[in-house]
Formats: sequence, structure tokens, C-alpha cells
Amino acid sequence: MDLELRDKLGLRFVKRLVATPKGRAHLLNQLADAESNGEADLFNRALAQVDDPSLRKMIEKHQSDEIRHAELFSARRDATGVRTRAVPPHLKLLDRINAAADGILDEPIADRAGVMRAYLMLQVLEERAMRQFPVFEAAFREVDPETADVLVEIMADEERHLKYCQAIAKRYAPDQATLDATLAKYRELEARAFVANSRANLEWLFEREIFAGNGVEKAVWWVLTAVMPATPAAA
Ligand SMILES: [Fe+2]
Ligand SMILES: [Fe+2]
Repeated sequence: MDLELRDKLGLRFVKRLVATPKGRAHLLNQLADAESNGEADLFNRALAQVDDPSLRKMIEKHQSDEIRHAELFSARRDATGVRTRAVPPHLKLLDRINAAADGILDEPIADRAGVMRAYLMLQVLEERAMRQFPVFEAAFREVDPETADVLVEIMADEERHLKYCQAIAKRYAPDQATLDATLAKYRELEARAFVANSRANLEWLFEREIFAGNGVEKAVWWVLTAVMPATPAAA
């Protein structure tokens, strides 16, 4: 299954999901959580290691953008009028990646290579966002144009963040080969976590009847996620 086909199928699925306020609230709750999760502390740890004023500015801007993104998504979630609960840990992509990467996101950043690793990890998260957000934007466009506009605004930031990540990782990498190998490893790791998380999310949506499809549709999605290959978002 190539990525374009997956994006097309993804759009069909997300359109169905966001057709109801309950579905919109669920997705926006997850997006708000992902924007506010864990990364915040990582920026502070990176700042403790980075002296270069221009790079410090990037880190600070990146951090404040992500806080703003969380607020924007939370506001759109609240606008659905549906009350949501905290996202359960098994539906958090970041937690899954962190576990698969031996807790890399909790590690202190103690040297230059640590800064590189942290920023390559952030880079793969940005790559996933850039793959998913256009799909979400298209899905929301008809049913909730305000949220679609928020996604357009956030996407522009994420594109800039990707450049920050690339610049900082390159500056702190011991050499290009180490950077390339680490990035490839993180992309693989994230892709596997993404598939597992998608599956868990689907189970949750069906169990709680948040997804408004019939039994046949559910079975189709169930099979599709079962055969979904773990392809990195940047492939
Ligand atoms: Fe963001
Ligand atoms: Fe970002």
C-alpha cells in the first residue's frame, strides 16, 4: 500500500469520523494532547545545552508555537460542545515512540549528540504532522471550516519547525553518517509506533461508538489497519 493510497483511504476514514461532533471532539482532543505532550520539557533541556543565540531563538519560537497549537486545538474541541476526557496513555503516539526508543524523550540532554537525537526525534514527529494535517484539513473543510482554517495556520508553523529541526540536528551532529543513520532509525521506530497506535485508536473508536460507520465499514477498516505497512511519513 503506497502512502498516497493510504492518505486517500485515511481521508475517507477521517471524513466519516468528523461527520459527528463526538468524532470531531475525539480527534481534536488527541491533537491538542499531542501538541502539548512531553515535548515542552525537551525544549527546556535542549536550551540548557545550546549557546548559539540564533538556535536558541528557534527553540524558543518552536516551543511557544506548540503551546499555541495545543490551545488552538483545545478551543476547537471545546467548540464541538462535546465533553472529552484525558487521552488514555495507550492512544498516545509519543508515549509509544518513547517506550520503543528506550525512553529517549525522558533522557537528560548531556552533550551535543543528545541535542541532535532530540531534534531528529522532533523531526520525525513534524514529518508525521505534515503528512496527516492536510488530510485532516480536507476532512474538516466542509463540516467545520473554522477548524480547517486552524489546521492551515498550524501547518505553516509545522513546515517551519521541520526546518528548525533539520538546522539544529545538522549543527549538533558529530557527522553526516551518524545523522543519517539516527534519522533512519527514528523514522522506522515512529512508523511502527504509528501503526500500532492507529490500530489501538480504531479499537477505541469502535468500542465507544465514536466512529459512525456500519458493521461492514468497520470490518473493512479493521482489515486495512491490520495490513497497514509501517511506512515512515517522509517516505
Ligand atoms: Fe504543532
Ligand atoms: Fe511542530
